[in-house]
Amino acid sequence: MCPQIAWEAFNLGTINSIPKARGSIQVAALNRIFVGYQALTMDKKEAKKFTTIHYHSYLELDKILSAQHPRSEVKGENPAHEEMLFIIVHQVYELWFKQILHELGSLVEMFQNNRVDERNIGTAVARLDRIIEIVELLIQQIRVMETMTPLDFLDFRSYLFPASGFQSFQFRMVESMLGLPRDHRMTYNKADFDIVFTEEQKAMLRQTENGGTLFEVVEAWLERTPFLEFQNFKFVGLYKEAVQRMLQKEREAIMASEYLAPESRTIRLSVLDSTASYYDNIFDPQKHAELRDAGELRLSYKATLAALLIKLYRDEPILQMPFNLLSRLTDLDELLTTWRYRHAQMVLRMLGKKVGTGGSSGYDYLQQTAARHHIFKDLHNVSTLLIPRSELPALPEEIQRELGFYFSQKG
Ligand code: HEM
Repeated sequence: MCPQIAWEAFNLGTINSIPKARGSIQVAALNRIFVGYQALTMDKKEAKKFTTIHYHSYLELDKILSAQHPRSEVKGENPAHEEMLFIIVHQVYELWFKQILHELGSLVEMFQNNRVDERNIGTAVARLDRIIEIVELLIQQIRVMETMTPLDFLDFRSYLFPASGFQSFQFRMVESMLGLPRDHRMTYNKADFDIVFTEEQKAMLRQTENGGTLFEVVEAWLERTPFLEFQNFKFVGLYKEAVQRMLQKEREAIMASEYLAPESRTIRLSVLDSTASYYDNIFDPQKHAELRDAGELRLSYKATLAALLIKLYRDEPILQMPFNLLSRLTDLDELLTTWRYRHAQMVLRMLGKKVGTGGSSGYDYLQQTAARHHIFKDLHNVSTLLIPRSELPALPEEIQRELGFYFSQKG
């Protein structure tokens, strides 16, 4: 027997003979014996996993906890109490950005390697869920920052110049990895957004933009969706007929209504005509391409159709997970926008209309980024094209079988 285990076993015997010593000491000794036996029965490589490490060194707390140096203390005569909070909140954000990048990187890779099919789409959804929970936390954390008053902030703000969240490389990487294109970005002082970064960082951002963003890989995945044309089922043709039926019913209802004055009737009919033009884009790839060229749409024609099909027939078993995936992307887009608005609101509270330490107009600039920096806006826009379930073209039985789970076909 290994001497350590023999010693523990001996101790255990001794402990058992002393009534008072039973309990926690005994449990600890048993644990050590168990771990010892485990290590003995494992090969060396396996056993390495169980080498001991201290909590402190595992988390490298020496580094993390010695990384807060309020400049009002280092540089100034009047240390500002709130600066510690300011530093820690930003550091926590950067740690969460790191985790988000870790998740996004794995998601892009999964899609790029065609590993997102109906068997493991759940993993992609779970990782998006994790990112969503983190962004929820990031939004809540603003409240912690707001426990500092604007006057407290002014005690140390001058020491920050010209540092700014605008220089957060990880934040830019999150945006780029999600798929925010360079030409959609708000800039200020007529400078590129990446002017604040090193050449190496700029290259990493470019590589991310050109090397597969979440937007692009999801678009390619949508384009591969089967079922848009399947045997006799031609989705666009059937959808078009359903839309026309629905619009015709609405037109007839407007015409037949006894409660509408003639002017109101005319207005309603013209509103209905403009709704009809939304649908025209989906029937006409050429129009879609024009809107894409003009920067009004980003998602390809085929991917838009696939997203529409998934949203319309989301009740079919095989489309439930793809639907969840699209919903999570919409959630994420919405939450990031919420963070932007919330951050802008905090800036208004702290600075009013003062310019930012990074040189932007402050609140106004941030408000505009919130309105403009959407990434999955086209997925929200698909809602415009949805029609009521009652109007949906019925799926032929063979398609329904294809869209059902294997076990439901057997039942
Ligand atoms: C008192 C608290 C804060 C104030 C007054 C503030 C102020 C500002 C201002 C004015 C800008 C615009 C750029 C500039 O001119 O500097 C900005 C940008 C930014 N801030 Fe903050 N901020 C605060 C807290 C935070 C926190 C906690 C984070 C978390 C990381 C953060 C992240 C960012 C990011 C990522 C940007 C760039 C946004 C973009 O360009 O779209 N800020 N901030």
